[in-house]
Formats: sequence, C-alpha cells, structure tokens
Amino acid sequence: PEAITIQELANRMAERAVDVIRLLMKQGQMLKINDVIDADTAELIATEMGHTVKRVSEADVEEGLFDAPDEAADTQPRPPVVTIMGHVDHGKTSLLDALRHANVVAGEAGGITQHIGAYQVEQNGQKITFIDTPGHAAFSAMRARGAKVTDIVVLVVAADDGVMPQTVEAISHAKAAGVPLIVAINKIDKPDANPERVRTELLRHEVQVESLGGDTLEVEVSAKAKTNLDKLLEVILLQSEVLELRANPDRAAEGIVIEAKLDKGRGPVATVLVDRGTLKVGDIVVAGSEWGRVRALLDDHGANVNAAGPAMPVEVLGFQGTPDAGDRVAVVENEARAREITEYRIRQKRENVAKRASGSRGSLEQMMS
Ligand code: GTP
Ligand code: MG
Repeated sequence: PEAITIQELANRMAERAVDVIRLLMKQGQMLKINDVIDADTAELIATEMGHTVKRVSEADVEEGLFDAPDEAADTQPRPPVVTIMGHVDHGKTSLLDALRHANVVAGEAGGITQHIGAYQVEQNGQKITFIDTPGHAAFSAMRARGAKVTDIVVLVVAADDGVMPQTVEAISHAKAAGVPLIVAINKIDKPDANPERVRTELLRHEVQVESLGGDTLEVEVSAKAKTNLDKLLEVILLQSEVLELRANPDRAAEGIVIEAKLDKGRGPVATVLVDRGTLKVGDIVVAGSEWGRVRALLDDHGANVNAAGPAMPVEVLGFQGTPDAGDRVAVVENEARAREITEYRIRQKRENVAKRASGSRGSLEQMMS
C-alpha cells in the first residue's frame, strides 16, 4: 500500500507539519515529521483538515507521459543516431574528430567550439547524429535500462591490430540490442595494416562483411590520413535509409539525457537527445526526478537555438536539479504536473530503498536463525 511522510503530506496540503502532528497526536499517534503514515491515515487527516483527497496511482501520474507510437501519417524522416564502438586505441575518438572536422561549416574556421556528448554531421544535406564515446556513462545506463538510443553501431577495428576483446564485446552489444553494425576498418594508412585479416577474424564472430558475401556494410578508413570519411558517412546514410527512421516532429518532445552536469555559472546542464516531437525554449520538462522550464537550448556548436527536433542533440538549461544520464525526458503541460510527477518519482524511489533495506534485514534475520 501507498505511504507518505508527514512532511510530504503537509507539503501537498500546503499545511504546517506541526498541525498534522498535532492532529495525529489527538488520535493517539505520537509521530515525528519524517515518520511515514499509510494512505488511509493520510486520507483521514487530509479530510479532517478540510482537503479533498484524490489518490493517484502510478498509472495516473505517468499516464500520457510517454505516449504510444506516433501514427505513421504524422511522421517525417529523421536523422540516424550512430554510436561508434570498438577496442581501446583503435581510433574511435580520432574518427569522430575527423568526421566532425571534415564537416565544420565554412565561417566556423575556429573549428570545434565545444564538447557535448553528441553532435550532428551533415552529408549531402542529410544529417547524422553521433553519440560520443561508447564508454559514455549514459550508454551503460541506457543499456542497463534497455533503452534504445542508437540506430546504428559503427564498429571500429584497427587494421594493424585486428579483432580484440572489446571488439567482440561491441558486436554482442549490437546484436543484443538488435542494432545493425557497420564495420570501419581503421588505420589503413599504417604499413602493417591488414584489412583482410580483420574481415576473416570478424567471420569467427558471425559478422560477415559484404566483400566476403555477407550483408554487413564495411568501409576501409584512416582517421589520420582522412581516407574514405565521406564514404563512411554515405554508408551510414545507406544503412539508415533501409531502417526508414521516422518521427513526429509536431508534438510535445520526448528524449533521453545523454549526460548532465552542474555548471557553476549556468546551473544544471543536460545534454538531451530528442527522439520525437520538438523541444522548445519555455517548455516545462521532466527528466527522472528533476524538472524545469527550458531557459535556453544550445546546439553542438554552442549556439542558441529556439527548438530541437527529432534526433537533434541539445544542451538544455533550466532544470532545477541535475538529472541522471539515461533519464527519459518529457514535456508536460505545466509546472504543477511536473511537480506531481517528480514528487511521485522521488517518493517511489524512497519507498523502494526502504523496501530493499527492510528486505535485506529480513533475509539477514533468516540467516541468523
Ligand atoms: P580509447 O578511447 O582509449 O578507447 O581509444 P580510441 O579508440 O578513441 O582511439 P584514439 O582515437 O584515441 O586513437 C588511438 C591512437 O591511434 C592515437 O594515437 C591515434 O593517433 C592513433 N590513430 C587513430 N586513427 C588512426 C589512423 O587512422 N591511422 C594511424 N596511423 N593512427 C591512428
Ligand atoms: Mg577515445
């Protein structure tokens, strides 16, 4: 059954906690501000203090927050979200940097202005969203929650080193998530590069590239010599075409927190990848147990934008507290709703912790007896 602390009950009624405690005392219950009372007692107290009670279940609170899939007719093509994975030192970061540099728009000759956890690159007028390093906190958090963030995995394998433990790990992650792989055989500029060996080694892990008669797309690249970077982008677009990625941009935004930090000057800053709808300045957003009114949106070049559509990563300013990487983000109608949802989630979290604590005590007692 539901339970609530005296403090929370008082807050919800906009009454003083001492008055609640006094009333309880009259009924013979000696309780303190942080003590928990059950829902029936809470209802009795609230009614006695002249409030009308509406019990909310999880279904009520979370209802409509993450809607059913969009009607196909409302959707439009959206950019693919791509994650680069691979073994240590095989060139993931170098490749991402090279792809981004190759795409720095004219006039922005200063180059990369800012690091955010995700960014977009444009190829032939089509956008591709990249999520930075796979070891990313968000990635593990999202994997743990079974959330699907990425549409395509680019598996980087160094041609001079071949398939290594983390290569194999990345393959199994992609397979488990049901996400298509594109193999980027990197460092082909090196004298001891042996892309043929990479291909045969991959076969042993059930990855059959096209040149060996399979259907896994592959590109030989060099992040250092900037070889075949355009080709890699084109192969990504080819793969994404097959996936027919679509989303409805004309609805309240939903997305996921890629990373979040508390910035000294700017307060909580969350990098959010919108997955459907359009996030706008002024929107009220909830993410996990945090909420806020969007004060500013910054793109991956640090420029202010008014809105972010599907697959666009943006820094979101305006959260009251710092959400967690992997938290789902949703726009809600107003502040009251945002408060209701986040307070409910905080309470759930607390109750779960309490449940776990009492559960483990129970088993300890069993062990001792
Ligand atoms: P971790 O993040 O530590 O897992 O490594 P990473 O996969 O991001 O590799 P990173 O990009 O840091 O590159 C590792 C080393 O390989 C660096 O010294 C790069 O300069 C070098 N490197 C990356 N790509 C190439 C390439 O195409 N050719 C050559 N010759 N060296 C490369
Ligand atoms: Mg790296």
